[in-house]
Amino acid sequence: MEYKTEQLVLRTVGEEDLSEVMRTWPSDHRPVSDEEAGNAIDRMSRSSEKNAEGSIYHLCLAVCGKDDPHTIMGWCGLDGRADSAEPEIFVLLDEEYRGKGYGTQCVAELLRIASEEFCLKRVRGGCGKDNPASQRAMEKGGMVRCGEEENGDPRYEFRAKEPRDIMETMKARHSVRRYLDKKIPDAVRKELDACAAELNRESGLNIQIVYDEPECFNSHYGRFENCANYIAVVGRKSAELEQNGGFYGEKLVLKAQEEGLNTCWVALSHGKSKASLGPDESEVIIIALGYGETQGSARKSKKPEDVSNIAPDSPEWFKRGVEAALLAPTAINQQRFKFTLTGNKVSAKAGKIGPCLKIDLGIAKCHFELAAGKENFVWA
Ligand SMILES: Cc1cc2nc3c(=O)[nH]c(=O)nc-3n(C[C@H](O)[C@H](O)[C@H](O)COP(=O)(O)O)c2cc1C
Repeated sequence: MEYKTEQLVLRTVGEEDLSEVMRTWPSDHRPVSDEEAGNAIDRMSRSSEKNAEGSIYHLCLAVCGKDDPHTIMGWCGLDGRADSAEPEIFVLLDEEYRGKGYGTQCVAELLRIASEEFCLKRVRGGCGKDNPASQRAMEKGGMVRCGEEENGDPRYEFRAKEPRDIMETMKARHSVRRYLDKKIPDAVRKELDACAAELNRESGLNIQIVYDEPECFNSHYGRFENCANYIAVVGRKSAELEQNGGFYGEKLVLKAQEEGLNTCWVALSHGKSKASLGPDESEVIIIALGYGETQGSARKSKKPEDVSNIAPDSPEWFKRGVEAALLAPTAINQQRFKFTLTGNKVSAKAGKIGPCLKIDLGIAKCHFELAAGKENFVWA
């Protein structure tokens, strides 16, 4: 198993790492013998095999630099031996690698692994009250302080978003085309940029957020007023680019909505964007971004039976997914997609005629997956 963050590789270890494990294995009497290190490697891989969706027994990852993936800088992971549904996060970095933001990257990636890959709803954590660096890493990585131990050490928790919370965000989102002359604060930009970076890492896209740039939506482009920020959905040319652009672009749209911003996907009515494109890249579409004059308003929608094979006895998660797909924005509100459930497989198909159908499909799939819960089905 190998996960990447901005600067790190977090990975499981094997026999080939024996000398590094001997050198770095967290023990009071370091370094450990080759026998002890070999046992530790064995234990780690046996523990990993017990991890499954919804349950982590123990996950231990070596922390390495992307530029030197063989040198172990420390260890991190999730320990579920006390409660496999709500494991305890741990990050142990060797002294020389502290204070570089690596701890924050470990925490953020472990929370992503817990919620997205193992579908866990809660992760717990703690650190010493006299350890402000660890406290910062916990908080910046996404944990929230939730109390303290008797000795005053802070306790933290992370709660994954419930499908019903995300549904509220989807219901609150409407396309907004007139914006206030209000800058997006630095703290919000940081959140959005971090989310875009994470999505890019996951998808291989090159989504960019352009701030304070009113030219793209200047007055020639009729329907938009005062829009000075936008998301440019950029990626390497491929047959999947449009659908992926829709899928990941909408994740950022929902994040923006959670941050109190408004958005509108825009295929046509805009000028040239300032996004930078690599030689083999293209810009799929852009998304207007800012504080709206209003929150927009609800529009007409097709019915679940128009866009799916829903039946009264369909599982709740499928009904929720289809409801969420109908809340997704589509070009000219066409809603030309179809979700079909067979067993636990869901196929999602775009209509045949209309603009931006592949982008629409990606957006609708994003809504469906977030609301239905990845743990309940597989894409056909
Ligand atoms: C792929 C795509 C392209 C769009 N292009 C434009 C556009 O060029 N101009 C515009 O004003 N709105 C555009 N929209 C916004 C849609 O008109 C809007 O999403 C739809 O009417 C549904 O309304 P809602 O977003 O409020 O749910 C686009 C939406 C999508 C998903």
